[in-house]
Amino acid sequence: MTTELETNIVAVERVKEYTETPTEVNSSYFIYIPTQGVVSENDNRVRDKHCSCRKSEGIHRNSYRGVVSENDNRVRDKHCSCRERVKEYTETPTEAAWEIEDKKPASSWPDKGCVEFNDYGVRYREGLDLVLKGISCKIDPTEKIGIVGRTGAGKSSLTLALFRILEKSQGNIIIDGIDISTIGLHDLRAKITIIPQDPVLFSGSLRMNIDPFSSYTDEELWKALEHAHLKTFVSNLPEGLQHECSEGGENLSVGQRQLVCLARALLRKTKILVLDEATAAVDLETDDLIQNTIRTEFSDCTILTIAHRLNTIMDYTRVMVLDAGIIKEFDSPNNLLKDSNSLFFGMAKNAGLVA
Ligand SMILES: Nc1ncnc2c1ncn2[C@@H]1O[C@H](COP(=O)(O)OP(=O)(O)O)[C@@H](O)[C@H]1O
Ligand SMILES: [Mg+2]
Repeated sequence: MTTELETNIVAVERVKEYTETPTEVNSSYFIYIPTQGVVSENDNRVRDKHCSCRKSEGIHRNSYRGVVSENDNRVRDKHCSCRERVKEYTETPTEAAWEIEDKKPASSWPDKGCVEFNDYGVRYREGLDLVLKGISCKIDPTEKIGIVGRTGAGKSSLTLALFRILEKSQGNIIIDGIDISTIGLHDLRAKITIIPQDPVLFSGSLRMNIDPFSSYTDEELWKALEHAHLKTFVSNLPEGLQHECSEGGENLSVGQRQLVCLARALLRKTKILVLDEATAAVDLETDDLIQNTIRTEFSDCTILTIAHRLNTIMDYTRVMVLDAGIIKEFDSPNNLLKDSNSLFFGMAKNAGLVA
């Protein structure tokens, strides 16, 4: 009984001492750190510990404080980063409105597929440099544009700008007469199709992946699959259109996933199609299938292809050579190849397409 009482008194003293010790940390964190657990240990050991503790108070206090500070720094870091996160997220500007009722484009928009960039500039964050620096160009309806340039030139940023994943810093983008910054994001994004470099599928049926809003009939789906060269593959699956795709689509090859994206694009058949290095991770055979389908099925659409294999864009209407966020060259492949000093000529030469 006495021992127990003693221990408790010592424990209380310790707590008192440490809570009163001025530290750089908030006392609420360490009340339980020095004593909890120790108190419940064997009484003698506890008393011994506490006695020796008292004798070497200075050292001990410091070492306790060391532990406390260390623990506390971690706790504090955690709390601070939490707090910072919350602050950051509450201050991060949210995406623009999905729909703006009085700015809704006609359902047929864009029916031509004319894309104009006027002194367009964009940066990733406030305070960073522009990654597209005053882009001005006019892409006519049904043109097939190949976009080339070394890594970091701004090719992907240009596609992000079209979808307003990046919002403009200057200038504007006009699609068929409408400044895309004035309309709702859903109204814009529903009207452009992208076949991304790394196609992502969602866990769910193949049908859901191709037609997420069940807007099309099975017949239309099969037609799209046929044009995407997936008909045989899907009809041989035991579950057909109901074939379950795993998260990310890992149970299909990258090539097949890309073809699923192509089927999706064929079904939506928007006037503007963007391919961001769509064939980068695909074998040559799939690449040819995709390119041929795109050529025939999207002949009446405007296509912007970020090309990594120059041979796929040699018959395109024009090639845009980007460099450090600036359009360096923008002309037909033939015209650019006539000038052996052009950047495009250099690229074609490196690719072994010209001597
Ligand atoms: N998420 C990002 N945050 C900041 N800068 C970025 C980001 N993504 C790309 N950039 C920068 O933007 C520039 C253009 O990049 P990008 O459009 O990806 O070029 P490309 O597709 O031609 O390789 C580069 O300088 C790159 O470093
Ligand atoms: Mg890129």
